[in-house]
Amino acid sequence: MGQNAPYPALEKLPPKRESIETISILRQANKATAALAELKGIAKTIPNQAMLINAIVLQEAKDSSEIENIITTQDELYTALTINQTNVSPATKEVINYRKAIFLGFDFVKNQGFLKVNDIVNVQQSLVGNSAGIRSAPGTVLKNDKTGEIVYTPPQDKQEILDLLTNFIDHYNKEEPDLSPLINMAILHYQFESIHPFYDGNGRTGRILNILFLILNRLIDIPILYLSSYIIENKQDYYGLLNHTNRTGEWEEWILFMLRAVESTSLQTIKKINAIRNLLESVATEVQHSAPKTYKKELIELLFEQPYSKIEFVVTRLNVERKAASRYLRELENIGILESHKIGRETLYINRRLFDLLKDKMQ
Ligand SMILES: Nc1ncnc2c1ncn2[C@@H]1O[C@H](COP(=O)(O)OP(=O)(O)OP(=O)(O)O)[C@@H](O)[C@H]1O
Ligand SMILES: [Mg+2]
Repeated sequence: MGQNAPYPALEKLPPKRESIETISILRQANKATAALAELKGIAKTIPNQAMLINAIVLQEAKDSSEIENIITTQDELYTALTINQTNVSPATKEVINYRKAIFLGFDFVKNQGFLKVNDIVNVQQSLVGNSAGIRSAPGTVLKNDKTGEIVYTPPQDKQEILDLLTNFIDHYNKEEPDLSPLINMAILHYQFESIHPFYDGNGRTGRILNILFLILNRLIDIPILYLSSYIIENKQDYYGLLNHTNRTGEWEEWILFMLRAVESTSLQTIKKINAIRNLLESVATEVQHSAPKTYKKELIELLFEQPYSKIEFVVTRLNVERKAASRYLRELENIGILESHKIGRETLYINRRLFDLLKDKMQ
């Protein structure tokens, strides 16, 4: 607890039931739950789940890192993922680490069916790329970006942090049959950010914990619901409401914010998935029509796993000779499906329409 802090010490979970289940919260929880259930259903109809996860996780890694002012271009990012470059910018590297961290967390959840504090530490480490771990030295405070004013002082004592984390993880793993998991996610996210267990990466780790929580509670099967873009758009509210809850212990506005984020993002993601599916189908039809000899289902799916491809990917996936792989890609370029770019010795083939679709916000 910080000196003269204008707010009470962080309380352990769970909060009082009546403060987290107001009528407006329950109404908004219903809407968010319905939207997310629809997303879960639609995601299942995409035959190649890896393709879907890849496309969406990459975009999330980029958006989430942007909250932290780690900005990279789509081009730089996809290029770095496609060829092993030595001169990748630090920002791009962070985004790639973020993506790895999501997959690491997803593996923990799939393999164990729960999370341990140590798993969270591992996720944060792979994200920030250092092994500092849980804070043990005092001094971490949260400041207002613009004014530099201290807005919140998280617990400073290591033992207190560990106690709060134990309480957090117990609740994270607990099945609560009569509490909406979405309300629970909002509470857990607040709690994690307020414990602020690390020197850095608390926001990004917390955002990964949100999606893993939804998977553990079977609200979604694969990691494709990300609130980062909503948070970027509503950054002032996001920080302001965390702060409001720190000061007053009132949950309502914070929970409503998170539930609206889930609803809006689910609807956006549904549109995106539908658009990806339509594009995939129209590309398949175009290839069958204009270059029937080149048409192979796996080849088309490969072009949708990430917007950039190269000969090697095709060789490995389709188990064909380099010459054949290169011919396929050139033919797809000839009929306007791909665009080739030379980077050093490597030729990258860009699925431009997918590239644009992934980065655009859906209307
Ligand atoms: N008043 C507050 N109370 C609790 N948590 C807060 C408060 N203000 C900000 N936070 C949290 O702190 C996070 C930032 O912490 P940190 O810099 O360790 O994480 P990051 O992942 O590096 O950054 P970012 O979230 O900006 O990407 C924010 O995302 C937010 O969730
Ligand atoms: Mg940071």
